[in-house]
This record gives sequence, C-alpha cells and structure tokens, in this order.
Amino acid sequence: MKHLLKLMDLSKEEILEILNLGDQLKYEQKHGIAHHRLEGKTLGMVFEKASTRTRVSFEVGMFQLGGHALFLSSKELQIGRGEAVEDTARVLSRYCDGVMIRTFAQKEVEDFARCASIPVINGLTDFAHPCQVLADLMTVREYKGHLEGLKLCFIGDGNNMANSMIVGGLKVGMRVSAACPAGYRPSPTVLEFAQSMVKSGAKFELLSDPLEAAKDADVVVTDVWASMGQEQQAEQRRRDFKGYCVDQAMMQLAHPDAIVQHCLPAHKGEEITEEVFEAHAPEIFEETENRLHAQKAVMVRLMAQ
Ligand code: CP
Ligand code: NVA
Repeated sequence: MKHLLKLMDLSKEEILEILNLGDQLKYEQKHGIAHHRLEGKTLGMVFEKASTRTRVSFEVGMFQLGGHALFLSSKELQIGRGEAVEDTARVLSRYCDGVMIRTFAQKEVEDFARCASIPVINGLTDFAHPCQVLADLMTVREYKGHLEGLKLCFIGDGNNMANSMIVGGLKVGMRVSAACPAGYRPSPTVLEFAQSMVKSGAKFELLSDPLEAAKDADVVVTDVWASMGQEQQAEQRRRDFKGYCVDQAMMQLAHPDAIVQHCLPAHKGEEITEEVFEAHAPEIFEETENRLHAQKAVMVRLMAQ
C-alpha cells in the first residue's frame, strides 16, 4: 500500500491491518505509552474545502506520533492561483514525508499521487472519504466485536460517504443496503464494484425505500443531504430527500441494538432527528475520536520506514 486514495484500492487484509493498528495505537495513547513512530517526519495537509475533524485529528495525530503537520490552505498556496497539481506534488515531495489532501475532484488526488514521490492520503473528495470510513469500521467493530455478516445500511445522498461506506462495508464482509432517492444514487463505479462483489457472494441492495433498507440493520449510517460545494442546492435537496430522515420510526425497524454513525457535521432535523442523534451520541462521538486513531494507523503504515 503506497497511498490511501480510495478504499477500492485496498484489500480486505489491508483494511483489517489498519483497524488492528488503530486499536493498538488507541490503547497506547489511552495508557500513556509513547508511540513516536513518525519522529522527525512532516505531513503536509492541503485543504481546498473546510474541515474541523480532519484537520484537527491529522494534526494532533502527527504530534502524538512524534512528527509535525503543516496546515496548507489552498487559499494561501500557489495551487489556489493555478499552479499545477503535478508541480505542487513534486514540490511538497521535496519537503514533506507524506501529504493529505481534501479537495473536490478525485482525479486531482489521483494526479497528485501519480506525480508525488511520497505517500498521499485522501482527506475527502466528492467521490470518497476513506479515512472516515476506516474510523467508522473501527467504531462498529469496537461496539459489535466483529464486522463480518453485520447489516450496514446507508440512508440518504449517494455521496462520498455512501460510496466509501458501500465499498468499505462490502470489503470487510458486511451485508450492505443503501437507500437513496432517484437522481441521488451512489457513483456508477461503486455500483459496478458492488455488483462484482455480489457475483462472488456478497450481499448488497440499492433501494429507494429507506424503511426497507433499515430493516434489521445493525448499523445505520447517514450524512448531510447537501455536501460541501452543493450549498446552493440545499433547498431543492430538502424537498427531494423527504422521507429519508433517520428518525425514531426508522430506528424501530432496525435491530434493537443498532448503532448509528454520522461523520459530522450533522444537520439535525434534516438527515437525522435531534432525538436519534442524541440517543446515539456516544457512538457518534466515538466515531469522531476514532478518526484520530485510524488515521494514525494509516500514517504509520504509509510513512514509517
Ligand atoms: N467528518 C469530517 O470529515 O469532518 P470535517 O469536515 O470537519 O473534517
Ligand atoms: N458529504 C459531506 C461529508 C463531510 C465530512 C461533504 O462532502 O461535505
């Protein structure tokens, strides 16, 4: 594993190795055991979109690993004035030991990785959010003790989170159902991947009825209806996603011990009710914390040599 660009590139074993290392690093951090595995290393963090969790968890994670992180806003970088991604990749490769990028097009992250001589980590694109889903899988395993065979349902927009949840869930052997309104389906590449998994025995269904998708689910996942860059469509989307709010009635259909995952930020009253959010706040904020541990594992896997 050279980069983390999307979960589709990883094998089941690679995903599980990251989760295992994440568990170990979480244990070491909780017990005050020093784990300076990236002493003297620097991570460049390029942000072309806003962030709270990704920025803080990567920066704190690098510090805890004995390294250093640089926050690089595209507004202040030459990339924001049109310097080529290919050149920025070659420049940062001369200073840093790894780069995390949050941007719009997946192609930009892939182009960056192609030209960089250091590991590149996708910190969210319109297509994928692999770091988030690694943290989600780590959280699910923490709560349920295993992943294989659990039913995961994603309710809402077929966005970066839906794409990565479907791929991540299927890779680790979960049964995945997704409910998305017409016109808001996950990426065709992801649906193709899911169909190929189904041919080898995996369980996947794409539905338009969220209640059907939530039936007997062990894990209910949702995300905002308007992602970063789609703010102007928010009103239209509120109309189109009517009936897709994760509420108490939907949760009644899920397994009685079902957990809820939300990558945050949440728009309470839209994709999730305040009641469901607060009832499941412990696992949602554990998921937030696990960004730190899972990403530390990713950085150690990619950057420690
Ligand atoms: N979940 C997540 O990626 O949060 P931020 O946008 O705050 O980084
Ligand atoms: N789908 C959301 C996730 C935010 C972490 C977005 O892209 O804005």
